[in-house]
Amino acid sequence: MNEHVPNKDLQPLANSKKVFVKTYGCQMNVYDSQRMTDSLGESGYMPTDTVEDADLVLINTCHIREKAAEKVYSQLGRLQKMKRARAKIGRDLMVGVAGCVAQAEGSEIIRRAPVVDLVIGPTTYHRLPEALERAKSGEKVVETDYAVEDKFEYLPQINREKTISRGVTAFLTVQEGCDKFCTFCVVPYTRGSEVSRPLTQILTEARRLVDAGVKEVTLLGQNVNAWHGHGPDGSAWGLGELLYHLAEIDGIERLRYTTSHPRDMDDRLIEAHRDLPKLMPYLHLPVQAGSDRILKAMNRKHTAAEYIALIERIRSVRPDMAISGDFITGFPGETDEDFEATMRLVETVGYAQAFSFKYSPRPGTPGADLPDHVPEEVKAERLERLQALLFSQQTAFQQSMADRTFDVLVEKPGRFEGQMVGRSPWLLPVIIEMKSNDNLKIGDIIKVRITKAGTNSLHAETA
Ligand code: SAH
Ligand code: SF4
Ligand code: F3S
Repeated sequence: MNEHVPNKDLQPLANSKKVFVKTYGCQMNVYDSQRMTDSLGESGYMPTDTVEDADLVLINTCHIREKAAEKVYSQLGRLQKMKRARAKIGRDLMVGVAGCVAQAEGSEIIRRAPVVDLVIGPTTYHRLPEALERAKSGEKVVETDYAVEDKFEYLPQINREKTISRGVTAFLTVQEGCDKFCTFCVVPYTRGSEVSRPLTQILTEARRLVDAGVKEVTLLGQNVNAWHGHGPDGSAWGLGELLYHLAEIDGIERLRYTTSHPRDMDDRLIEAHRDLPKLMPYLHLPVQAGSDRILKAMNRKHTAAEYIALIERIRSVRPDMAISGDFITGFPGETDEDFEATMRLVETVGYAQAFSFKYSPRPGTPGADLPDHVPEEVKAERLERLQALLFSQQTAFQQSMADRTFDVLVEKPGRFEGQMVGRSPWLLPVIIEMKSNDNLKIGDIIKVRITKAGTNSLHAETA
């Protein structure tokens, strides 16, 4: 899980308070944690990466599967003990729960874990400083109404100084929420309906990132390819058009986007993969299952054959496209035969990367009320078989890099002296063993040749 690493370059203000932010879940949460940290900075809270130093602990939570949601309560248990210990020495600890569990459970969180002072949902983060003030005066605050204002407008703009230490890659949220209502999924309930950020806001943020030294921008959204907006002449734009436009910004060297829904992969977006060298050949396109019956029950609104045909079209314009996917085993009603269809689909597509999970019934979703729930051990057996197949494909993909030469973006120093870590166009990290006359700097895009392609890592030298 992702832990937001606070910016250590900022100078602490005298007597300033400290906030520790712990992030679970998807990249949307990583992005939100950064924005919340920025906005708390304006209220006098400096980030810290040690919980013991913190005056405020903010847990940014995920509700996608039961396991993810339950983690929050074990964390809160530990914080309760810490708060008690601090009370003895007269030092306070404020605890806030943000993110998708906050949205889904609201005041129930405070009932179950009275240590919590503040519950704030993902559409209301711009109200965080004000909510915190109320919580400080002793009120138990729950802010989970879907906000009508645009939270992006109200959140403080990332300034140059704060962005630099985030390195040469950055996330940029362009779309939030989801209207698709897949029957297994909580996102439409926790994040609300689909909202696209307007073009001007996106361009302003992109330019600011470039000014701060960012070379690679990943556009984010729960359904990022459902993004729609208007061009300067008022014409309707989709994500494809937006990518063409972003690719024209000097300084942006690489573009990515995630997560996409198969139904929103339109022609213009596929053309962008054909035309834009800056658009990296890596696509996360979850399918969940390979049986049409199950896809229908999941409300995915496409068949397995349509998904495979889509992948073929994408590969016909960009033959080196690496495909990544998400899968669920044991959705209610899934038979052995249905599961075999998932295995066949995986064989046909060939994944470079994948995430797979046992179905977890989520309260309030239609899937939870379906008949024929699959026993846990069957879900687990299927998951094991699926993961073995996916793992063999991932390994084969990694090993296919041996002896190849391509560009990497240098991101950070390696673990050992003389090493740098770069990222391949296909998202794989590459350890560059520097030669004595190499003078690599973070942010460089350089050609390397892969000298060793192991199961878990790629080693390279400059080419
Ligand atoms: N918007 C993306 C997915 C977002 S959720 C899409 O439509 O594909 C990320 C992944 O979590 C999903 O792709 C799915 O594989 C998994 N997931 C979501 N709900 C789940 C549940 N109830 N049980 C198990 N896995 C789930
Ligand atoms: Fe969830 Fe489906 Fe929306 Fe993805 S498209 S966020 S899986 S409801
Ligand atoms: Fe989790 Fe919410 Fe993201 S439920 S996956 S943090 S949108």
